[in-house]
Amino acid sequence: MCGIVGYLGEQQAYPILIEGLKRLEYRGYDSAGVALQCAEGMKVIKAKGELSALEQKVGNGAPIGHMGIGHTRWATHGAPSDANAHPHCGCSEDFAVVHNGIIENYLFLRNWLEKEGHRFASETDTEVLAHLVEHFYHGDLLQAVQKALEKVRGSFAMVVMCDKEEDRLICVRKDSPLIIGLGKGENFVASDVPAILNHTRKIYILEDGDLASITPDSVEIFTPSGDPLQREAIEVNWDAVQAEKGGYPHFMLKEIMEQPHALRETMRGRLLQGGREISLPELEMNPQELRNISRIYIVACGTAYHAGLVGKYAMERLLRLPVEVDLASEFRYRDPILDENTLMLVISQSGETADTLAALRLARKQGNKVLALTNVVGSTVAREADNVLYTWAGPEIAVASTKAYLTQLLSLFLLTLYLGKARNLLSRSDLENFGKAIFALPGQVEQVLERSEEIRELAEYLAPWESTFFIGRNVDYAVAMEGALKLKEISYIHAEAYAAGELKHGTLALVVEGVPVIALATQMNVIEKSVSNIKEVNARGGYITCFAQEGTTELQGEADGIFYLPSAPDFLMPIIAVVPLQLLAYYVAVARGCSVDKPRNLAKSVTVE
Ligand code: G6P
Repeated sequence: MCGIVGYLGEQQAYPILIEGLKRLEYRGYDSAGVALQCAEGMKVIKAKGELSALEQKVGNGAPIGHMGIGHTRWATHGAPSDANAHPHCGCSEDFAVVHNGIIENYLFLRNWLEKEGHRFASETDTEVLAHLVEHFYHGDLLQAVQKALEKVRGSFAMVVMCDKEEDRLICVRKDSPLIIGLGKGENFVASDVPAILNHTRKIYILEDGDLASITPDSVEIFTPSGDPLQREAIEVNWDAVQAEKGGYPHFMLKEIMEQPHALRETMRGRLLQGGREISLPELEMNPQELRNISRIYIVACGTAYHAGLVGKYAMERLLRLPVEVDLASEFRYRDPILDENTLMLVISQSGETADTLAALRLARKQGNKVLALTNVVGSTVAREADNVLYTWAGPEIAVASTKAYLTQLLSLFLLTLYLGKARNLLSRSDLENFGKAIFALPGQVEQVLERSEEIRELAEYLAPWESTFFIGRNVDYAVAMEGALKLKEISYIHAEAYAAGELKHGTLALVVEGVPVIALATQMNVIEKSVSNIKEVNARGGYITCFAQEGTTELQGEADGIFYLPSAPDFLMPIIAVVPLQLLAYYVAVARGCSVDKPRNLAKSVTVE
């Protein structure tokens, strides 16, 4: 949700800012801009559209300067336009601000500033920050920012630059992520690690309320009232190559193809002795606590929510514990019932989603311990949860989540087996069998990926349609929801997921001759019921493609196409079954000429509620 970069040092700032913004475009891409301190004064250039529009506007006239800030926007206040793009300036171009988040009392502040004589050039909430800093500036940028912050309510990260102060940037973090990258004679600021990976892996992760004053040779961090703070720098172990496309046309395809590797990384060191041992030392709960759990509550958004739904089926089936799964945006406002024996689990790829974070905080405020499942080390969710299980998917850049989802599923299965063992619900041979099946998953996903050409053919049929249905029973329903989400978010085809048994209660009315229906039929305990539902679609002329485990004979003659998947215990099948659906969404989006990695109106990391 908006990407921020900043640079000061010996090098030319402009190319570094552009390179950083390219890696942050997943956070928003409806306009972009930069501000640089140049010999002739501050230079601000902004353009509506993707970053390439800004590059085109700049052409060969890149501003020359060693300090600058840049921004890529996901609009909240004010439509995408040149004027609403960041950086925003005060009345003069002496002050420039880039911001991620929302200033809740911006209208009040704007009215007040206008009465004080400030003139506004955009419809954004951000612009009040620039005017506030200008208003309070009396020769010290840090003090001016501090004064401005006293007036502001909301959640944000921002970087401020002042033409009157050479070689100094002031940054603030409150509820939206911001990191500082440490170089030699140069320093960087960014919303996220990939933006600066080519330059340094040593970073400070700012905490909520932190203010930082950065020069090329120093980083000073302060509390909101200006007291100096010590933060420990950390080394990130992602490498820059992981954050590149690596020869693939899109990040999404690269990330789909990386899934076998991501699964291996996520199970590494956790599944031992052929699966008989599961080690999750991160949980730090004593055996009694594990036995006391009487309910599990999973909270997440988007694809992570769909992973939670899959987890519910596995946990209820194997642990015989009630599991609730809630959307984070709903959880907070319905006075959730949590007790001390509820295991609260939040799932978030980025670890920065505002609603998920708010749910985590609410649960902790109510005295509950929270376990987080996240992909980003040092993210806010990771830091604020009591315990963290990391999914080792590596950086996920495409807006449509794929490898993070698969590793979330695997982590949920490992957690389920771990709890099952601790609660004496699974025998040694159960564990051994499940362990073997889990070890086989990466290879089975590889087998599906090798058949991507078959999925591309299905995509050709689907691409001209404007509406499609995904159906499934039991956990296949949860997978159908993820398949439908993937398709709609990147191809803009209306895709609806339905519990197959529920179809006849309304949605079947929409199935007419040729309408594409994707039927998941991987759950052997309900295979006959699934076949009946597929017959109902067949009888109305729907064009059915089934995904089923190899060896399933019940579907023959019932569908227009059957894609047989490598076989696994039913509860593990989602890891295999979702892969062709990801490929399907990808190939349909490509066939329709859509912007695969940066779908319209969406952003990878949603840091507003
Ligand atoms: C956005 C992304 C989705 C993601 C969701 C939750 O909507 O586009 O891909 O699933 O946020 O994100 P999180 O980082 O919390 O998993």
